[in-house]
Amino acid sequence: MTDRTTPRIDNDIYNRLADSWWDENGFLHILKTLANPWRLPYFQRVIRHLEVEPRGRRALDVGCGGGLLAEEFATMGFVVTGVDPSEPSLDAARAHAAKKGLIIDYRPGYGDHLPFANESFDVVYCCDVLEHIRSWDAVIDDIARVLRGGGVFLYDTINRTTFSKLVVVKLMQEWRLTSIAPANLHSWDMFIKPRELKASLERHGLRSQDIRGMSLNVNPVQLVASARLYKTGRISGAELGRRLGAKEGSNLALSYMGYALK
Ligand SMILES: C[S@@+](CC[C@H](N)C(=O)[O-])C[C@H]1O[C@@H](n2cnc3c(N)ncnc32)[C@H](O)[C@@H]1O
Repeated sequence: MTDRTTPRIDNDIYNRLADSWWDENGFLHILKTLANPWRLPYFQRVIRHLEVEPRGRRALDVGCGGGLLAEEFATMGFVVTGVDPSEPSLDAARAHAAKKGLIIDYRPGYGDHLPFANESFDVVYCCDVLEHIRSWDAVIDDIARVLRGGGVFLYDTINRTTFSKLVVVKLMQEWRLTSIAPANLHSWDMFIKPRELKASLERHGLRSQDIRGMSLNVNPVQLVASARLYKTGRISGAELGRRLGAKEGSNLALSYMGYALK
């Protein structure tokens, strides 16, 4: 039951806004121009560093949404399966992959009940998903189960700090003049501190190897100005993501990404 002290999280957003995953003007498309340029080069670097040859290797995308990352992993040569509870998002993902001529197996499912046998994937990744699931520790448990021994787990999520409360919840979601995200997209109490995630990984047999942070290419004034431009329809979601210009850095106060080995 939800009360005043337990903020709600609205994961129905991914059903209602599923048409926006691949729409330049759409809200969910912001992830493509904001998050992908930050996390994808890092994941590719990790994969090269570990000398994983993508061709023919099985990769699982947990909480794949509209397939913004699944398509990138398929293009790298992985045999990709995507899992998500949102059927409209899976429909959008299937339609876009077909348009691009990519073969990706999209399946309905939840991260804590993955519909796969033990040790069936070489790579599993879960990006911008754990902070949307109260039982995220159970998701890590099931990811560890389906990952083969020696396999790699890649992730990104949002840290629970005063800074993330200010930027992700107050500025982006709550304040009338700057809010660009749907209400209850995020709930600050569900954000995850790196040490909490690291402990969960270790508990489930995944050895954390590295954690990297995010820095934005804008100062606070430019951040507010960009949010206003998007909110008033003067720039697209794609352009907003580009303007914020997320880059890899050492500061973990906002979002962070990393990898672990089984
Ligand atoms: C912010 S989106 C991230 C999508 C994608 N991973 C990306 O980064 O482009 C969060 C996704 O998590 C999915 N999700 C919500 N609850 C989930 C659960 N229990 N298990 C797996 N995925 C879930 C949502 O449907 C949504 O597609």
